[in-house]
Amino acid sequence: MNSLISIKDLNRQQILALCSQAALHDKNKECTTLDGKIVMTLFFEPSTRTRLSFESAALRTGAKVLTFTAESSSLKKGESFSDTVRMASSYADILIIRHPEEGASAQAKAVSSAPVINAGDGKNEHPTQTMLDLYTIIKERGSIDGSTIALAGDLKYGRAVHSLLYALKNFDAKIILAAPQEFALPEDIKKEMGSQIIYQTEYLHEALEADFLYMTRVQKERFNPQAEGYKEDFILSLPLLEQKAKKSLRVLHPLPRVNEITEDVDPSPHNIYFKQAANGVPMRMALLEYASGVFLC
Ligand code: NCD
Repeated sequence: MNSLISIKDLNRQQILALCSQAALHDKNKECTTLDGKIVMTLFFEPSTRTRLSFESAALRTGAKVLTFTAESSSLKKGESFSDTVRMASSYADILIIRHPEEGASAQAKAVSSAPVINAGDGKNEHPTQTMLDLYTIIKERGSIDGSTIALAGDLKYGRAVHSLLYALKNFDAKIILAAPQEFALPEDIKKEMGSQIIYQTEYLHEALEADFLYMTRVQKERFNPQAEGYKEDFILSLPLLEQKAKKSLRVLHPLPRVNEITEDVDPSPHNIYFKQAANGVPMRMALLEYASGVFLC
């Protein structure tokens, strides 16, 4: 049994093995590897794709699903997060947890008798999103090595970006950072990435020479927009792509998109963000198999 709290829990070989396993599930959409198991999703924050694709993945591997909702639970009576998790782990075989506080999944792992998968903890990490991002890049390009990946938007509060960067340390990929000053990548992460970051810019159009552009929305729920002087000026449109990007540039986004990619990009060959979201199901099937110990890597 394996928990997945940080993307740093996986090495290069394990990441690639999980991508190969996801590719098998892409071809074979249903299996019985988790027959008899119960997967519980405990989301203390809103989610559409992550929760639904985990629940779909669980059902497609033969598991049963229990959905915990904070609003109708004993949290309302004052029960602690730890007690909730301790109890939940005796009712299910795998816990999938999303929480607004950094470190919540690690805290859950410490008291859980079942493996815990971090489905996003505050602005810290979102490792399963990263796994489907990497799988999407591999599907599109054959390999991550040798690619240039630009990350754009809210690099300060975006947990998907933080996990993706940590994962890219395992690969020979070049990184471009594009963010308005107030949403720049935290210094400690930047330091950790070292010379893999080839340059940093405050202008979106200067990031478009990459092979992949990873757009993100401003994480308004994690700060006071007034206090940080938030500007809505990081918008990707088709005219901008046609003017500045190479034809082969592919645009990724963890979604939800708010207004940072205009809808005219959707029908263009640059768009792979909806395919990326669909890849969440086969990848999360592989991750559930990894967590339950039926897939060894
Ligand atoms: C991301 C998240 O929750 O961090 N969404 C997702 O899981 N697909 C990104 C976001 O909310 O902006």
